[in-house]
Formats: sequence, structure tokens, C-alpha cells
Amino acid sequence: MSDILFSPVQLGDISLKNRVVMAPMTRSRAGEGDSPIQLHVDYYTQRASAGLIITEGTQPSLNGKGYARTPGIHSPEQTAAWKAVADSVNAAGGAMVMQVMHCGRISSKHNKAADAETVAPSAIIAKGEVYSDTAGMVEHDIPRALETEEIPSVIEEYRQATENALSAGLAGVELHATSGYLPAQFLSTGTNQRTDQYGGSAENRVRFVVECLEAMASVAGPGKVGIRICPGNPFNDLHDDNPEETFTALLKAIDPINLAFLHTIRMPEGPVDNIALSQKYFSGPLMVNDSYDAAEASAVIESGVASAVSFGRDFIANPDLVEKISAGTELSEFDHTTLYTPGAEGFTDY
Ligand SMILES: Cc1cc2nc3c(=O)[nH]c(=O)nc-3n(C[C@H](O)[C@H](O)[C@H](O)COP(=O)(O)O)c2cc1C
Repeated sequence: MSDILFSPVQLGDISLKNRVVMAPMTRSRAGEGDSPIQLHVDYYTQRASAGLIITEGTQPSLNGKGYARTPGIHSPEQTAAWKAVADSVNAAGGAMVMQVMHCGRISSKHNKAADAETVAPSAIIAKGEVYSDTAGMVEHDIPRALETEEIPSVIEEYRQATENALSAGLAGVELHATSGYLPAQFLSTGTNQRTDQYGGSAENRVRFVVECLEAMASVAGPGKVGIRICPGNPFNDLHDDNPEETFTALLKAIDPINLAFLHTIRMPEGPVDNIALSQKYFSGPLMVNDSYDAAEASAVIESGVASAVSFGRDFIANPDLVEKISAGTELSEFDHTTLYTPGAEGFTDY
């Protein structure tokens, strides 16, 4: 393993002190009003030696919430609470980017405010169930298909979320466009059966994501905005007839925006070579993810393919992952049973 993992790098306007990024991970510990609490200050500050922390998926609106106890970034209280997190991480020498996650149809009314709705490109229910605190495992809601006229207001949620995150002191934002959530629902043929300019051809299906990124970039420039993708990912009942065509269209459309980074999850058994496709059509910095160890992460950076590598699961039980990699110390294992439970256990006590 070379030292390249521990060298600084610039992703657009975002400065990383090393190339070891903490991947976004939903942990379901938000408090009153879907705000982060002191536990989040502690959790993220413990991990501030990462070159960059990407927060857990954070909803830009009441409608965007899908899971139990996920934090939001749409109210003044949430923004103030995130500022406490970011201030602490920044003071510890770290940097954070907020992952903006609108779940779309992956949601149950049991996890939402009474006046919130489950919306999606088309009124197609997702197979499978979602956990709720009030009713246990429940079916997903049948989503209401968004009207063409209201799509700008959903895009505005992403813009406002970006403004809130930056005002809270985060270094940037990441659009969550994989894993079956709203942007992925627009991209994919199985979930997008629209007949307006947001559905049909690949050029039309990528439009929502492109317009979201443009809106996010309008706040403080594209150098503070990244996007996360995983072409061919079937998670959350997602299906696309031709992910290579869809993501070629997407990458060609977003490349001129000059985003801070493209965060690509590889899928060796999937239909597309996601990293090769990203390299082919995206000219900015690439961050790669999924099941990297330190040696492989060093190698993918050394080869010039990626600027940084994100680590998810390793950061759960190893807040000092950077130090452990550097020292060659054996990594601790995390407890599966406390991934999404409330409280400090399995969160801040590693
Ligand atoms: C508990 C848990 C929660 C996750 N939540 C999110 C999320 O909110 N947003 C996201 O994009 N990926 C999420 N992921 C996926 C991770 O970011 C990452 O892609 C995955 O863990 C693979 O990377 P790894 O092999 O380094 O763990 C989550 C993963 C785990 C284990």
C-alpha cells in the first residue's frame, strides 16, 4: 500500500486532507422534528479524521422522508442542529458533505408527518416492506405520480436543502441518485412510465436529475455539488431496461456542469462496468465505493482512475479508520443489530 491514500486532494471547491472518505450511511437516530441531536455531533466528530464525511441520507422535505428517524434539512431547527454537527467536525479538522436523499416511493405513511405524501414519477408501488416504529414492517405506500407542473417545486426542495446545508457550514452536498430513491425512480424505465418531458427516452428520464443538479449548483457553484450513482443497481425494486444507455445519457448531460465529484458504486456482478462507464463519460474527479480495502483503494487512486475512495461499513466500528489503516491495525467488526436502533449503542460507543 502506498501513501497516496493519505495525501490531500481537491474535489471541485472541496479540500480533502486525505483520500479516505466516509460513505453516506443512514443510522436512524434523528430526534424531535427530524433534527440531528448531540449523538450526531459525537458520532461525526469521532470520525473527523476522514478526508471527507458524507452524511447519512437527509431528506429535503417532509415528502422526501421514507424511513424511521432519518434527519431532514428543510426546517430552520434542522439547519441549526446540523450547524452544531458541522461546527464540531470542522473544529476537529474534518469536512462534511450532506447527502440529500428524497426517498420517493420507498416510504410508508407510518414514517412520515401526517400531512406528508408519498410521491414518485409514476404511481407504481415498490415491492417489499419498510420498517416503521409505529407498525413494524409495512408495505410501501402506493405513490402519487407527480404532475408535470409540480416537478419544479420538488427540484426547488433540493436547491433549498443545498442552501440550508451550506449555511450550516457543510462543505458541499451530494445528490443521492441510486438505490431506488426518487432520482433513481426517474432514471429507470421500471419506475418511470411518464409521457411528459420527464419520461420515455433516456434523455427525458435523466432530465429530473440534471435539473436537480443545476438547481443545487445554482446556490454556490458546481464545485460544491457531487452525485452518487450505481448503474444497474436493483435495490428497492428498481429495474431499468438499459442502464448503460441511461447512465451514458446522464453522464454526458452532467459532465458540462463541472461538478465537484462523481461518486460511483461499483457492481462487479452487474450489467455495466460502472467505473469504466464513469471514466468514459465524466471528466471530473471520481470517487469510488464498495468493498474496498486499503490496498485496493491505494491502487485505484495510484492508477489514476479515482481521486478518492469511500468506506462505509468499516467506519461504523472504526471511527479511527484513517489512523488504523495508517498503522496497519486490525479493524473491528460492527454489530448488525444496532445499525438502525435509537441511542448511543452501536453508534457512538465503538
Ligand atoms: C447501515 C448502512 C446505511 C447506509 N445508508 C446509505 C445512505 O443513506 N445513502 C447511501 O447512498 N448509501 C448508504 N449505504 C451504502 C454505503 O454508503 C456503501 O455504499 C456500502 O456500505 C458499501 O461500501 P462499503 O463496502 O465500504 O461498506 C448504507 C450502508 C450501510 C451499511
